[in-house]
Amino acid sequence: MTTKQQPLGTPFTAASTADEVLDGIDLSGTNVVVTGGHTGLGLETTRALAEAGASVTVGCRNPDRAAALAGVERVEVAGLDLLDPASIDAFAHRYLGSRRPLHILINTPGSWRARCSGTPAATSPSSPPTTSATSN
Ligand SMILES: NC(=O)c1ccc[n+]([C@@H]2O[C@H](COP(=O)([O-])OP(=O)(O)OC[C@H]3O[C@@H](n4cnc5c(N)ncnc54)[C@H](OP(=O)(O)O)[C@@H]3O)[C@@H](O)[C@H]2O)c1
Repeated sequence: MTTKQQPLGTPFTAASTADEVLDGIDLSGTNVVVTGGHTGLGLETTRALAEAGASVTVGCRNPDRAAALAGVERVEVAGLDLLDPASIDAFAHRYLGSRRPLHILINTPGSWRARCSGTPAATSPSSPPTTSATSN
């Protein structure tokens, strides 16, 4: 079965900025997690969401690289390496421990992990042989 794609019908284009998309929207009381929210598209997303009133938790594999977020109100940075299951668990447990609902999850870097045999493999203490990658 195929379904023809339809335009979303928004006034925005590929040239629209995050500020334009959020113009007039009050995100006070909204909790957001942005993975990779300290650089590139993620940084712009984090900045615009926080400016609109959201509380943003940025998942970052090396929080030392999050200097661009220093002093940005309503933004906190927490360690998260998407290729390390233990790091993902720790990030999730920390967030759950805060007892805040999560309203929006924005995954800037995409990652995939596949079990494999007979191919070059990456291993971690908590996972079987896999090939892993994070898309940037
Ligand atoms: N820029 C564009 O024009 C464009 C266009 C279409 C699609 N995209 C897609 O949008 C996404 C972001 O693009 P970008 O230009 O903003 O890239 P970017 O500046 O390279 O940002 C990628 C982010 O992902 C983080 N990251 C990478 N591996 C990670 C891991 N294992 N665990 C946690 N975080 C990890 C990086 O953190 P570190 O600081 O630790 O490296 C960095 O913050 C990518 O998936 C890209 O393919 C971008």
